[in-house]
Amino acid sequence: MANYLRDRFEKEPDKLAQAYGASIPFDRRLYRQDIAGSIAHARMLGRQGIISDKEAEFIIMGLVAIRKEIEEGAFVFRTDLEDIHMNIEARLAEKLGDVAGKLHTARSRNDQVAVDVRLFVKETIPGLLEQLSGLQWALLERAEAHKDVILPGYTHLQRAQPVLLAHHLLAYFEMFQRDKERFQDCLRRTDVMPLGSGALAGVPYPLDRQYVAEQLGFSRISENSIDAVSDRDFIVEFQSCASIAMMHLSRLAEELVLWSTAEFGFIEMDDAYATTSSIMPQKKNPDMAELGRGKTGRVYGNLMGILTVLKGLPLSYNRDLQEDKEGLFDTVDTLEASLGVFTGMIKTVKFNKAPMRSAAGSGYILATDLADYLVKKGLPFRQAHGVVAGLVAQAIREGKPLDKLALEEYRKFSPLFGEDVYGITVEASVAGRNVPGGTGPGQVEEALERARKRMTTPDRVGGE
Ligand code: ARG
Repeated sequence: MANYLRDRFEKEPDKLAQAYGASIPFDRRLYRQDIAGSIAHARMLGRQGIISDKEAEFIIMGLVAIRKEIEEGAFVFRTDLEDIHMNIEARLAEKLGDVAGKLHTARSRNDQVAVDVRLFVKETIPGLLEQLSGLQWALLERAEAHKDVILPGYTHLQRAQPVLLAHHLLAYFEMFQRDKERFQDCLRRTDVMPLGSGALAGVPYPLDRQYVAEQLGFSRISENSIDAVSDRDFIVEFQSCASIAMMHLSRLAEELVLWSTAEFGFIEMDDAYATTSSIMPQKKNPDMAELGRGKTGRVYGNLMGILTVLKGLPLSYNRDLQEDKEGLFDTVDTLEASLGVFTGMIKTVKFNKAPMRSAAGSGYILATDLADYLVKKGLPFRQAHGVVAGLVAQAIREGKPLDKLALEEYRKFSPLFGEDVYGITVEASVAGRNVPGGTGPGQVEEALERARKRMTTPDRVGGE
């Protein structure tokens, strides 16, 4: 069988070098995009009279048949043919004879691989948007079902101020909303059709590049052939978007892990997402959350990988660029799997209302509210902060919670304290934060409605 790659050489390739250079073990995943690109190219060549209509038709029929062979598992992938492009072309030659050789007119593997990977990323993003929306729905529904649950909000992982669980869950809703917007933005810059750039300089044929773009669903054609064959910014952007989304999943994972400890006791993972220990039968481990946290590392690694491949790379195409794919595929697989598992975890996790509420009521979590109380009675906030600091120090010395201090004790620190100081409760603290974006129940109610509206409005990002 023909191997055009070695036409000018006399020697057989070194076996190790051949395996080293072959991308077929991983780029076979691009077969559909590669065939789609070839069909669009062949159709355009026919329409422009660069090859005859009949030849174009033959070639297209051959390509369709090859796609079927691959899908049925009947196709034999050959390492000596290096990559998916040559594997398909060689098979086309087997099937059609010489006319197959006309397909590569006015094309190079450099613009061919660029179109393949762009198509792949373009086809991947909508699925990710849908998955991110699925996770947002899960968060939203759990938030709606737990509107009255209060837990401590933390800063420095110290109990800070009481908040609604719904408010906490909606924080993640916002993160995944931004992730969708970022992927949409990445999609816009990926949506550029590079065919027609040839090896790097363009091609000496009267192509209709716009027609190729239309057939493949691209909204624009590339402006500069040198850039088009060497640009992988869209992969860097994709890896960045994915890294940020994984970072968000990892933060969520960390809270799920912490909250499922006996020390917190805020949640219980559903059995379907928990594992047990091979030695300690009492254990219920949040392995899926831990794995998501761990897998974030490999996605960051893939981002660093592509950035480093591109750093210092001279124009235009260099074989280094072949290293763009494995990390890309790995990131797609990792992110898709993680989103699926995390959505399931959020849908099924059990929130333990009582431990959350009791943690929110303990310690000196209402100290800020006490300072705000004095502010409302006319004391400047800084002074109020000082008064409450003294009061809390005293209460800690005596081992008493704030609501167990007698009014006289309060009044030793400020004459502004009155009976109504006992009206400062966890519930009142939450209710008082009635500012847009705050945790007051009325605000959270409106935030839930806005979130629902965002999710159901078509043509908003990711609104399905
Ligand atoms: N396997 C190659 C890649 O992934 C395809 C392009 C090869 N081009 C070349 N001039 N050797 O980048």
